[in-house]
Amino acid sequence: MNKSLVQIRDLDVVYATRAGEVRAVDGVTLDISAGKVLGLVGESGCGKSTLGTALLRLVRHPGRIAGGEIWFDGRNLLALSKEEMRELRGARISMIFQDPMTSLNPLQRISDHIVETIRTHKPEVSTQEARQQAAELIDRLGIMADRLDDYPHQLSGGMRQRVMIGLALALRADLIIADEATTSLDVIVEAQFLDLLKELQRDFGLTILLITHNIGVVAQLADQVAVMYAAKLVELADVEQLFADPLHPYTKALLASVPNIRLVGDTLKVMQGSPPDLISPPSGCRFHPRCPYAFDRCAAEEPPLIEVQPGRWVACWLQRG
Ligand SMILES: Nc1ncnc2c1ncn2[C@@H]1O[C@H](COP(=O)(O)OP(=O)(O)OP(=O)(O)O)[C@@H](O)[C@H]1O
Ligand code: SF4
Ligand SMILES: [Mg+2]
Repeated sequence: MNKSLVQIRDLDVVYATRAGEVRAVDGVTLDISAGKVLGLVGESGCGKSTLGTALLRLVRHPGRIAGGEIWFDGRNLLALSKEEMRELRGARISMIFQDPMTSLNPLQRISDHIVETIRTHKPEVSTQEARQQAAELIDRLGIMADRLDDYPHQLSGGMRQRVMIGLALALRADLIIADEATTSLDVIVEAQFLDLLKELQRDFGLTILLITHNIGVVAQLADQVAVMYAAKLVELADVEQLFADPLHPYTKALLASVPNIRLVGDTLKVMQGSPPDLISPPSGCRFHPRCPYAFDRCAAEEPPLIEVQPGRWVACWLQRG
């Protein structure tokens, strides 16, 4: 059994809106094993990004963490001061977004980003040493050394994503949260980026939470997969298990909609029906209005998430025997 770097326990995140309270993460319990890639999948609006930002305590207003616990390397994140949290965010947990331009300073050269990141967290490192480290990193990321002094807008989208990984590596971050990090890349650049990420993940023992609606990306990179539906975790399994034998009807539908998982982009749109409203979700199992296997109990009672095989969790009445 792998040691858990992150333990999420019964986490609730809500957004207060005029129409009512949107419960975007509802009672989620999940571990992220150290040195592994956990893929987090589910339709648009099911709460993936909210869960990712909650791990950094960066849920945007009008959202807030309304309950539960988040443990990171033995520390209760929800009990840390703002200052402690800021340190942790910079140094040990990094987030990579779909558009790296939002995280990079357009007026700063790539080298300066990396040098500054290194020196902010390790002031004892001289600028010259930091520059040397930046050059080594850039090389490891497959970016030509002569691009070191480019500005972010001079690089392609794929190169910018590499820089974001470089910044996380410069900090020796333990956990990287990648939220739709490859969505804006074309297929070939995306495949190269994913290969690089896998290589770096193995070499540096990184733990990655890979948030995506692209099942193909999950198949390529993840060790484990968590499936969310309407703010709930409905299935958790090793990647091979999940693809070979999905147990939750929603997971089955998700995979059935992908004829060739390696070739598909946005695959979830072909599923019948639409995701429920999170202000007043369906009773019982939230998937029941769309589930081809639904029976009486499904609308009346919510199925608990249970461990049906070692390391494999499913929330569906069909799995209760
Ligand atoms: N600032 C906000 N105010 C109100 N509701 C919000 C806000 N941000 C997110 N939500 C709601 O919370 C739910 C979860 O949103 P979230 O962005 O976490 O989903 P997601 O799974 O990341 O979707 P996507 O695949 O489109 O990125 C959605 O129903 C969304 O409408
Ligand atoms: S509990 Fe019922 S409605 Fe929900 S996924 Fe299982 S069979 Fe379908
Ligand atoms: Mg999102």
